[in-house]
Amino acid sequence: METQWIHMENPQEAERGYEEGIRLLLAGENVAFPTETVYGLGGYIGSEEGLRGIFRAKGRPSDNPLIVHIYPGYDVGRVARKISPQAERLMARYWPGPMTLIFEKAPGLSPLITAGLDTVAVRMPNHPVALELMRRGGLAVAAPSANLSGRPSPTTAEHVYEDMKGRIPLVLHGGACQVGLESTIIDMTAEPPMVLRPGGLTIEEIREILPDVRMDPGLAVKKDAVPKAPGMKYRHYAPKAPMWMALGSPEEQEEQIRRGLLAAKGSRRGVLTVDEHRGDFDAEVILSLGSRQDPEGMAARLFDALRRFDEERCEILFAESISREGIGEAFMNRLQKACGGKTLKGDDDGRTGISGEDAR
Ligand code: TXA
Ligand code: MG
Repeated sequence: METQWIHMENPQEAERGYEEGIRLLLAGENVAFPTETVYGLGGYIGSEEGLRGIFRAKGRPSDNPLIVHIYPGYDVGRVARKISPQAERLMARYWPGPMTLIFEKAPGLSPLITAGLDTVAVRMPNHPVALELMRRGGLAVAAPSANLSGRPSPTTAEHVYEDMKGRIPLVLHGGACQVGLESTIIDMTAEPPMVLRPGGLTIEEIREILPDVRMDPGLAVKKDAVPKAPGMKYRHYAPKAPMWMALGSPEEQEEQIRRGLLAAKGSRRGVLTVDEHRGDFDAEVILSLGSRQDPEGMAARLFDALRRFDEERCEILFAESISREGIGEAFMNRLQKACGGKTLKGDDDGRTGISGEDAR
């Protein structure tokens, strides 16, 4: 299949993009489109063929449900039931935006969307291309992130093309995603509501409306913890090379990474660092996410950096961590997943963590 690519930032091209996008969606085909978080791989919620195509194109396990994307003016009651006053307040404040809410599903919604669950995830993205595509077509679109299953979510149209070339007919090119991490998922069927995935909307922002919101205990990176959002249990966001995360103060982290780099000498080593430490390491590939003072910028560049380590064919990776405040919570969640929970913090016998079964 040939994959078309249309530049939505060019007004004349954009007209064709919307027409072609809507035509394909209604015909049961899949279209990748930009959102403020990451690119989505859309299928019309009314087309079984379009929904099946999403799983096929991504190689996604069918037990992992999709998020239904809607636009202003689309009644959320068409896809979900029992919308609480609390949920109404969240939607009024944070939609369109990087927030996904879980509700009881409306009858008639395809089980392909919900992977057979009785709940449905809904979000209104804050990106003019996504909103205009849905508004013009008058359609809600089910969409996971537009990456191949297991790869980091795409934050540029080039990332989508890398993963989806030959698998879908159309990529709507809308530049780099502003947030760069996926939406925050809040389960509104839980009492009190529970965050199933930290994301672009911060916990602090949610607490302004839901002071008693809880975090899913399954989010902790522990072997026995099972997260409630089915997608959070998969190996995700991971570069091909094993990656270790430094912990502690910036000085402690620098020291841990230096020791790790020494121990890994002879391999093609990559370091994910910050501008403040850029010149401090001796490694084959050094990528900075920007200044530690700009965690939003660091978050927006994280997935691109993970993909670049693959392109650079790194064999072993070390990463600096940041504070969990604000967007830091979602950033650290993705980084921990990319590391599979491995850290460089010396344990009791003073080992760095690069030993035993994790060594390679
Ligand atoms: O920012 C985003 O949310 C992006 C853009 C494209 O909107 N989408 C995205 O979709 O990240 P995806 O499929 O990569 O992640 C959706 C997550 C998965 O972890 C899935 O298991 C969870 O949402 N999810 C979907 N429906 C659910 C439900 N009914 N109950 C619990 N978790 C659900
Ligand atoms: Mg995804």
